[in-house]
Amino acid sequence: MTADEMKKQAAWSALEYITTDGVVGVGTGSTVNHFIDALATIKGRIEGAVSSSNASTQRLKDYGIHVFDLNEVKEVAVYVDGADESNHNLQLVKGGGGALTREKIIAAVADKFVCIADATKLVDVLGKFPLPVEVIPMARSYVAREIVKLGGQPVYREGVITDNHNVILDVHGLDIMEPIKLEKKLNDIVGVVTNGLFAMRPADVLLLGTENGTQTVN
Ligand code: 5RP
Repeated sequence: MTADEMKKQAAWSALEYITTDGVVGVGTGSTVNHFIDALATIKGRIEGAVSSSNASTQRLKDYGIHVFDLNEVKEVAVYVDGADESNHNLQLVKGGGGALTREKIIAAVADKFVCIADATKLVDVLGKFPLPVEVIPMARSYVAREIVKLGGQPVYREGVITDNHNVILDVHGLDIMEPIKLEKKLNDIVGVVTNGLFAMRPADVLLLGTENGTQTVN
């Protein structure tokens, strides 16, 4: 089974969590693209979606699924999104696709966060995947110097501008033993918009696509 087949399996399993006729939160990435394909098959049952990126918005609209502005919506019962890494406490590293800020906002609003991923994403210690940090462009060098003081090696993701018109630093060389502490420390650096640690608000359920079917971790 390829990684993409495992992603697809996890993504389709997430349909079970879409139990209300409300608004569904939709993340970003190749796993979420499979979820959008699945969601389209039950689009008559939902009111619409809120989306974490221009790319997901476009895919949802192509299927004729209404995309609400988050400010128009009082409640998001379920948010479905992928991850670059998850530990066993369902604390995540996200932002490989650069959509971390909007993803974190929708995760904060949602009652339930369902993370979908292939089995390789489950790790004991976060940090092997470089941690994305979204930064206001004029603060890039300053933020990079502050991150070095925290023990990380920031690398500028050249040529990438986020949907919020910011830049991304990918931080290598971190063994993230205390995810909540690091998430707060990075947020405290002036010029940081968001970092890709989802530890203060972890996922509630992790659906892992494996060779033997979808494994549920919660
Ligand atoms: C985008 C993300 C994605 O969820 C993460 O990068 C996983 O992507 P994929 O499903 O393509 O493996 O955080 O910002």
